[in-house]
Amino acid sequence: MKDIVSLCKRRGFIFAASDIYGGINGFWDYGPLGVELKNNLRDRWWKDMVITPPIGPDGNPIEIVGVDSSIIQNPKSWEASGHVGGFNDPMVDCKESKKRYRADHVKVFIPKDGQGNAVAFDKDAEDSEIEKRLKKLTKKVPTDFDTQTLDQVDASTFDNIIGPDVKEPGTLTEPRQFNMMFHTYVGATAGDENKAYLRPETCAGIFLNFKNVVDSSRVKVPFGIAQVGKAFRNEVTPRNFIFRSREFEQMELEWFCEEEDVPKWFDFWVEQRTNFWLSLGLPKSSLHFLDVEKAELAHYSDRTIDVEYQFPFAAPGFDELEGIAHRGCFDLTQHQEFSGQKLEYFDQPNNKRFMPHVIEPSTGLTRGVLALICEAYTVDENRPSGVYMNFKPSMAPKKAAILPLTAKEDHVPIAQKLYLELREEFVVDLDIKQNIGKRYARQDEIGTPYCFTIDNDTIADQTVTVRERNTMAQERIHLDKVAEYLREKLKD
Ligand code: GAP
Repeated sequence: MKDIVSLCKRRGFIFAASDIYGGINGFWDYGPLGVELKNNLRDRWWKDMVITPPIGPDGNPIEIVGVDSSIIQNPKSWEASGHVGGFNDPMVDCKESKKRYRADHVKVFIPKDGQGNAVAFDKDAEDSEIEKRLKKLTKKVPTDFDTQTLDQVDASTFDNIIGPDVKEPGTLTEPRQFNMMFHTYVGATAGDENKAYLRPETCAGIFLNFKNVVDSSRVKVPFGIAQVGKAFRNEVTPRNFIFRSREFEQMELEWFCEEEDVPKWFDFWVEQRTNFWLSLGLPKSSLHFLDVEKAELAHYSDRTIDVEYQFPFAAPGFDELEGIAHRGCFDLTQHQEFSGQKLEYFDQPNNKRFMPHVIEPSTGLTRGVLALICEAYTVDENRPSGVYMNFKPSMAPKKAAILPLTAKEDHVPIAQKLYLELREEFVVDLDIKQNIGKRYARQDEIGTPYCFTIDNDTIADQTVTVRERNTMAQERIHLDKVAEYLREKLKD
């Protein structure tokens, strides 16, 4: 991860937000290449969902429309959704290290006796080997210790627990519930009556517009509403680069269907979403599907399958990339109750009224960007850059670079002409300065799949050299064929 983070900064993918002020924990900015990559992933998701949605299980195209709703909604909607009352993480502070942990994430060691009962921590008996292990919080627990996540620990034994990063027991506070919604005040006065929230998930704006969409468009259940946009969570412990941040982007689909069709559509969406990630170059061996245990389910969900990816910080394990949840009819029912507006769907042909059930494939756009970056990062000692980004050409921030071999007058005008022509259709780079080896190295590091080099032969016979990123193989093609060549290569 260290190397990946460093490449991202060096080459302009991702920077710490407010970098010149020392950053702000959990916030990130996307640089010139990062924003292109993020837009590519967003556009591809939007195309696959809204423009060319998949063919349904019965062989007919399915119907999905888009919305773009406000980040701030009527605060009552967050009471209805359960976020004001229940969007909490248990949080624990360490009085010594001043660090804050999520109680359900952090593992602690508790000394126990021969019968497995927790006992007082005996500092004198502690040998250096145990101390080392405690400090590192290794998975191999000494036999006379028990390991648990903090939220499982009986609060009365807290004095006896050694937290991460410290040597002494008893430095942790009891877990406190911490609402993760950022709030603000709407209007001139900062009173409770003006309190509003930044949305912690984008799907809310979809449920709030369900009736508007049904009334204004010709959609019929089953159908979907899709949205891409920012979400905000005051995460207790933002971590792993952009994986868990406090401001991030989500791509969410709410698929409205009849209750009896839920199993069919649930399987359909798990398959579709898996194919999406495979088509972007994440190999099957790096994906894992977690049928989330009942006790771990979000308050609204009856069943959830997490699509997990083998992020480097989780390897050999996996961590969540996307959740596909059956939300039942929880949201529409709650909003109907809290708003007093009828939100049931009226099925005209069958003359029946019902509350649709919802399948929700929800993924982090920014987390998806991280997965693409991690997957693309390829060490190769045989090339000057030592590393290249193996993006699928369709995801690469720059599709091609146009490189005049020298900054001489006869190479540059041809390169410029080609650049002006190609940029009408593709995101391309014109790079004139430095020796050609250095320029190839830069393009490798930013993952540009094709470089077109203009040299003396170009003047003689109107051909250019194409260099392919992964193989570094070179061939010559006619100047007139460059756009067609790129179009063909970017098809998948
Ligand atoms: N509407 C359902 C929902 O929001 P979630 O599992 O909390 O469900 C869905 O979030 C996806 O959003 C996750 O799979 C992840 O990709 C992304 N996500 C959630 N919290 C995030 C965070 N703090 N930083 C980056 N991405 C996050």
